[in-house]
Amino acid sequence: DRKPIIAIDGPAGAGKSTVARQVAANLGLIYLDTGAMYRAVTWLVQQSGISISDECAIAELVSQCVIELAPSQNLSSPVQVCINGHDVTQKIRTPDVTSNVSAIAAQTAVRLSLVKQQQVWGKKGGLVAEGRDIGTQVFPDAEVKIYLTASVSERARRRQSDFTKQGLPQINLEQLEKDIAERDWKDSTRKVSPLRKAPDAVEIQTDGLDISDVTAKIIDCYEQRL
Ligand code: C5P
Repeated sequence: DRKPIIAIDGPAGAGKSTVARQVAANLGLIYLDTGAMYRAVTWLVQQSGISISDECAIAELVSQCVIELAPSQNLSSPVQVCINGHDVTQKIRTPDVTSNVSAIAAQTAVRLSLVKQQQVWGKKGGLVAEGRDIGTQVFPDAEVKIYLTASVSERARRRQSDFTKQGLPQINLEQLEKDIAERDWKDSTRKVSPLRKAPDAVEIQTDGLDISDVTAKIIDCYEQRL
């Protein structure tokens, strides 16, 4: 008998993380950031000096790695992530990891291993899980499935304001739009578990909506399903 699961999928920069954290906090559920797991593996691959195209070596590495996710102290900061004992919370958010993660996430062995770990988190339910394939592959029986989208320009603007808030160097909007569109393309055209809206997911187009609007809509869906 497991507690409900809320699955939130969507392209890069649609606001999934912020909204998923809010929903989890509001409903007293655990927040699972699956993107952080793919990012941690990407960091480990880069750290190990393995080529990102060496699928065999990466399969071996991922089968032996230990990923720990801890809830963050406050709502505005991301989850704390450790891989093989290294705290990579900040390191997995660098442009270097971001630009290589899609190539790692496209590898079958990587996905099999991480999806299995994610499903362990889901055994007892009571989870808000966020990613690209949560409603389609990881938790196809989730009680609530949400597909969050926004236009590329809106997502680029949000990314830019995230950088500003964190005091990071500015990247121009045009470059951000290019990066986002490229990651969308890679994530939705890969062979294994491409980014897709599950047939039974509720799509929320978030252009012009703020975080509290989107959070309220998702909580509404959750309450309707109970
Ligand atoms: O959500 P975030 O931007 O942190 O995800 C980083 C990358 O990890 C995505 O661009 C995608 O390639 C991969 N990913 C995935 N499946 C998930 C979550 C993330 O393939 N469930």
